[in-house]
Amino acid sequence: MKTDIRNKEDIKILVDAFYQKIKTDEIIGYLFNEVALVNWEKHLPIMYDFWDNILFHTGNFDGNPMMKHRMLDEKSTLTEAHFLHWTKLWKKTVDDFFEGEKADEVKIRAKNIAKAMMNKVIN
Ligand code: HEM
Repeated sequence: MKTDIRNKEDIKILVDAFYQKIKTDEIIGYLFNEVALVNWEKHLPIMYDFWDNILFHTGNFDGNPMMKHRMLDEKSTLTEAHFLHWTKLWKKTVDDFFEGEKADEVKIRAKNIAKAMMNKVIN
C-alpha cells in the first residue's frame, strides 16, 4: 500500500530514487555526469529543499534554477526531448513510491516548471 508524500523524509526517498535513475540514464545522464560534473553530495540536499519548499512551503530554497539550466544549455544544448524525458522519469519515480494529493501535486508542478524552463532556456 503506497502512502502520500508526507514530509521531508519522503521527499528524500523520492529525490534519491530519481537521481539514481538519472545517473545511469542513457538520454540525459551525460548532462549530469559529463557536462555539469554534478557534485551529488551538494546537489541532492539542494533538491530536497527545493521540493520541500514547493510541497510544504518551508521557504528554505534560494537557488536560481533558470540560470543554472541556461548555463548548462550553453555548455551542451538542451532539447525538448531532454525535458520531456526528465518529466517522464520524475512521474515514474513518484508513481513507484507514492500516491495521493501531494504525489499528484509534485508531478503537476514538475511538468509546469519543465515547460517554463523549456520556454526560458531553449527558446
Ligand atoms: C533537461 C532536463 C534537465 C536537466 C538535464 C537538468 C540538469 C541539471 C543540472 C546538471 C543541475 C546542476 C547544476 C549545478 O549545480 O551545476 C541542475 C540543477 C537543478 N535543477 Fe535541473 N535539469 C533538468 C530539468 C529540471 C527540471 C524540470 C526541474 C524542476 C522541476 C529542475 C530543477 C533543478 C533545480 C531546482 C536545480 C538546483 C538549482 C540551483 O542550485 O540553484 N531541473 N539541473
